[in-house]
Amino acid sequence: MSSGFVSYARTTVVFGPGTFASLGSHAKRLGFSRPLLVADNGIVRAGYVKRAQQVLESEGICSCLFNEFGENPDSSQVERGEAAALAFAPDSIVAIGGGSSLDCAKAINFVLTQGGRIQDYWGYDKAANPLLPMIGVATTTGTGSEAQSYALISDAQTKVKMAIGAPSAAFRLVILDPELAVSQPRSVLATAGYDAISHAVETAATTRRNLASIALAREAWRLLSANFERLLNNPGDIESAGSLQYGAYLAGLAIEHSMLGAAHATANPLTATYGLTHGLAIALMLVPVVNLNGIACYSALDGFSIGCLEDLALAAGLPRRLREVAVPLHDLDALAAAAALQWTGRFNPQPLEVNLARRMYECAY
Ligand SMILES: [Fe+2]
Repeated sequence: MSSGFVSYARTTVVFGPGTFASLGSHAKRLGFSRPLLVADNGIVRAGYVKRAQQVLESEGICSCLFNEFGENPDSSQVERGEAAALAFAPDSIVAIGGGSSLDCAKAINFVLTQGGRIQDYWGYDKAANPLLPMIGVATTTGTGSEAQSYALISDAQTKVKMAIGAPSAAFRLVILDPELAVSQPRSVLATAGYDAISHAVETAATTRRNLASIALAREAWRLLSANFERLLNNPGDIESAGSLQYGAYLAGLAIEHSMLGAAHATANPLTATYGLTHGLAIALMLVPVVNLNGIACYSALDGFSIGCLEDLALAAGLPRRLREVAVPLHDLDALAAAAALQWTGRFNPQPLEVNLARRMYECAY
């Protein structure tokens, strides 16, 4: 059943409470002298950008901030980032934040070093020139972008989510500091944490699964399912924040090895059409997708059950029905058509055709 795989160890992982303070010394060791700092406004407000600038300056490293992007970064925001970078002429990039900051940084790296538009690099390994070296500081426990060589960027006109990747787009080094993860807002923890859980679940069942992805998905599931509710109930619990953070990283690495499935293919049109947060759209779709794929597809995960997934969503206070988030019933056909076009649906245990996608939305309604 298991197919062959290539497993890369491209990224150095620095884990532990207080490791954010080592950003300057790691940047220096990697030879960074003018990093572009990519961080969203929430990260600026939390004071992390100021702290990053201080630790970089203490090593004689001068940086320039780009923060003009939102929760689902799009192609026009990437172009603004490229303009900011061209004015500063960075030799490296430091990204701080959740998936939006990390993905936006990767995308800016593509257009800055390759020229053209971000749409030109949709797909994998289309970068001819070397990319700038990057450090990622993950502040949420969700997307797993810190483990991946892909960025997800929306086309500003069509709203289609493009996956853009290249082996050299992976971070050279990532810092996982549980002190940052423990202070993420509860609403972010709820949606990002559930997204990470869905990564462990979907990667365990894709048609591309293999020994490496299954090992990663299993350990990610173990850490995430044991610590998600614990952190929700005990805000400030640094140990569960760290376990969740490392679980989200492993789940992101599992995606790199085996792709995702229909929960992501059906969630993406909900985000594109109604602006729903990615993790919220995932929370609406994961249970119907697992039900329709069949629980047997997920046998690699110890202790996995539909009841578990329901309990975790309820603990996080996430909506359970499309009608609760004002999705009109007459939109289901259009949503199903859009879901069937999603690349990630190809790796679902059953090929995601329009009829199956429509049934998944009906079950979620
Ligand atoms: Fe996701």
